Amino acid sequence: MQGKGAIVAEDLVKVYGGKVRAVDGVSFEVAHGEIFGFLGPNGAGKTTTVSMLSAGLRPTSGRGIIDGLEVGQNAEAVKRRIGVIFQESTADGDLTGRENLEVAAGTYGISRAEGRERATALIAEMHLTEAADRYAKTYSGGMRRRLELAVGLVHRPKVLFLDEPTLGLDPQGRAGFWGFVQKLRKETGMTVFVTTHYLDEADTMCDRIAIIDHGKIVASGTPNQLKDKLGGDVVTIKTAPSAPDVTETLRALSGVSAVQRQDDSYRVKCASGETLVPLAVEASYRANAAVTGVTVKRPSLDEVFLEFTGREFREEEGPTATDRAVMMQRVRGAMQGRR
Ligand SMILES: Nc1ncnc2c1ncn2[C@@H]1O[C@H](COP(=O)(O)OP(=O)(O)OP(=O)(O)O)[C@@H](O)[C@H]1O
Ligand SMILES: [Mg+2]
Repeated sequence: MQGKGAIVAEDLVKVYGGKVRAVDGVSFEVAHGEIFGFLGPNGAGKTTTVSMLSAGLRPTSGRGIIDGLEVGQNAEAVKRRIGVIFQESTADGDLTGRENLEVAAGTYGISRAEGRERATALIAEMHLTEAADRYAKTYSGGMRRRLELAVGLVHRPKVLFLDEPTLGLDPQGRAGFWGFVQKLRKETGMTVFVTTHYLDEADTMCDRIAIIDHGKIVASGTPNQLKDKLGGDVVTIKTAPSAPDVTETLRALSGVSAVQRQDDSYRVKCASGETLVPLAVEASYRANAAVTGVTVKRPSLDEVFLEFTGREFREEEGPTATDRAVMMQRVRGAMQGRR
């Protein structure tokens, strides 16, 4: 079978109700062991893509392949190979954390004894030991997400789909969650497909990223490649006082698009600051201008996102799945508080 990747999307299309083209010809390949980020504004088609790849929704056309298996023809086998953590909370609040895990293990045909063992191990792994025998409805948002991650891992999937896994978590909760995912990937070589609204998170955690807008992928690459596409690093080079003017020297370097001088400082706009710095230091030195300081400023993924979608990341578009999820979390919290 073609497509050696852990996850392959081949021209996936989903049209809802004969008119909403939620996903409009999406293709990509995720390598084994890769953490792949899927970013896009509300309603871009992220959850729909996850649902099609995880055998939860039939594509209108095109196909998904997981670990060499065509999703539509092998739904059950695919489900055994994947873990899915949905955008909206799925843990059963009226069961304890431990029970949630044991029930999940049962649905995969794992024996009770083995299920108990795995539950205990995952509980420890996710730092839920103290709360393991409490009802999940008493968990904080972060604990609930860790429990859901544990549930998604109970059958030891090769591929993990995370749909906005850190939604509503505080920075500590987010960092903790990602710590677990990184550790798992390192230890088991698991492949991770993650949608997120947190661009800083995608930047630091993902090996590669695709940006989807209106159902189409508008840009993809490593976070650095995406930033390079903007052609916008700014390197500031400071030379020794009374050093000769190196404006022209810097301007002649490869990848430089503009140089502005202010006293002993040069603001150099270039494709890649990382590549430019050694060249600039060397060239300045040759021109008898010793470099005394260098700073590199990269564009952030926010700027990349804006460039490719023409929208601020959090621009309002009316209530969407994400908004509803946040609202539901609040409502649930309020209802639990009342009980
Ligand atoms: N069951 C459905 N029936 C009809 N339209 C739907 C359905 N599910 C999603 N859509 C529409 O498809 C489009 C893509 O939705 P999807 O949930 O995949 O977006 P998303 O990128 O996950 O958004 P969010 O960031 O808000 O989670 C939206 O226009 C949405 O309104
Ligand atoms: Mg979604």
